[in-house]
Amino acid sequence: MTGLKKIKTAVFISGRGSNLHNLIKFFKTKKSPILIDLIVSNKKDAIGLKYAKKYKIKKKIINYKDQKNAEKNLLLTLKKRKIKFICLAGFMKILSSSFIKRFKEKIVNIHPSFLPKYKGLNTSVRALSNNEKFSGCTVHYVTSKLDSGKIIMQKKVKIVKNETSISLDKKIIKEEHKLYPAAILKIFN
Ligand code: GRF
Repeated sequence: MTGLKKIKTAVFISGRGSNLHNLIKFFKTKKSPILIDLIVSNKKDAIGLKYAKKYKIKKKIINYKDQKNAEKNLLLTLKKRKIKFICLAGFMKILSSSFIKRFKEKIVNIHPSFLPKYKGLNTSVRALSNNEKFSGCTVHYVTSKLDSGKIIMQKKVKIVKNETSISLDKKIIKEEHKLYPAAILKIFN
């Protein structure tokens, strides 16, 4: 795919940004259908923002204290930059349904569980305390219902004896880094 045909994409983060970093490395490959043009964070000190500097990608910090204003402002930036696709990657805010409507089926998210099990936070801790045999990760479309949109791809991760939430999280994030690019390829190919 040539640079011109690639889909202009924004990645939304709030923290560490390992999925963001992984998606940046993916978009630099020839086979990537997306081009990451903007990094959005609701936190000005999110660790993942360092990748904006490293890879010379524009960043935008939004202040979610006034969600309506923040999203209005954000929509203007997205429009100006001709962003057509949004990847949420550890973005800890819930987008309003009017924002989501503006990007219908164009916002995806990665979640650290085998949905529909364990929506929300602390997925590994909850899976372990329920003695689950596996957890996993899921890439899904974003709707106004938390972690409930149509599933694009998911991967199971086995829970072994003496598993801790730390060891399980480590195994899951490794799979997330394979799953997110694979799901994007599936969407656009
Ligand atoms: C990942 O586990 C993702 O599934 C969840 O938040 C975490 C973000 O990690 N939504 P990172 O910031 O991409 O390292």
